[in-house]
Amino acid sequence: MDINLERAASQINAVLQGKIRTPHVEAFFDEPTFTASYVVHDPATKAAAIIDSVLDFDQPSGRTSFKSADAMIAYVEAEGLNVEWLLETHAHADHLSAAPYLQEKLGGKLVIGAEIVTVQNVFGKIFNEGTRFARDGSQFDRLLVDGDKLMIGEIPLIALHVPGHTPADMAYIIGDAVFTGDTMFMPDYGSARADFPGGDARQLYQSVRRLMKLPDQSRVFLCHDYKAPNRDEYVWETTMLAERTGNVHVHEGVSEDDFVEMRTQRDATLSMPKLILPSIQVNMRGGRMPEPEENGVSYLKLPLNQL
Ligand SMILES: [Fe+2]
Repeated sequence: MDINLERAASQINAVLQGKIRTPHVEAFFDEPTFTASYVVHDPATKAAAIIDSVLDFDQPSGRTSFKSADAMIAYVEAEGLNVEWLLETHAHADHLSAAPYLQEKLGGKLVIGAEIVTVQNVFGKIFNEGTRFARDGSQFDRLLVDGDKLMIGEIPLIALHVPGHTPADMAYIIGDAVFTGDTMFMPDYGSARADFPGGDARQLYQSVRRLMKLPDQSRVFLCHDYKAPNRDEYVWETTMLAERTGNVHVHEGVSEDDFVEMRTQRDATLSMPKLILPSIQVNMRGGRMPEPEENGVSYLKLPLNQL
């Protein structure tokens, strides 16, 4: 086991042994984008982190709204939490982040993986962004690399870099809770696509395998759920044991080559997510809209024949 993974495993074990407090995790599911967002907090200090928030976006009208974010704000206020961190597991391609809105209302520092600069470079070209679009991650307050540690009150967080779905994906291990982003989905649904620019099925396999070495009892919280054959309710929490032994795409025993072949074939059949162009354009800016034009209106671009 590598050293950072070992640290994450021993943090989880310390929670299981009662040496570190168990964080409370509250999920908020957005059905239009099938996204699970989370408010995680330390029950003793009331310090909190918000993970992968959603800004409501009606594409036909180009209108944004805040129902999902306001539900999180209402919860934070009712519980008397102090938001210290706004964490993104990656630059999402299927929903816009509400992090800037939440930051304005609740405070907290905006955090993403350091490889976001790769995503900014790739999509900066696709959207033909000029020099005013910085590709250095400066839209975020903090960029994390593998093994970086934060505190949520008195509960530690370890960040692990888990590329594959995108180059910048991070998993956040908070106490005994593993927030995988899109690196894995529910055991009966499997895995995320790896065919976006910068994605890599081989890397995704290795990232999943790495996370699966964490303790069996780790609580696992996913960024999405789409239901699954024979299941008609949404579920976004499982355990590492269930993933390791039962994940339909990548359970123990599935070889890297077999996974890559399955993933590549399957990805070739998928159309692009409905909101990929608006989402990436906004999320690569830390969830901010492109600068308004001289009439005060922000516009999103639709590059033709680029994806
Ligand atoms: Fe994603």
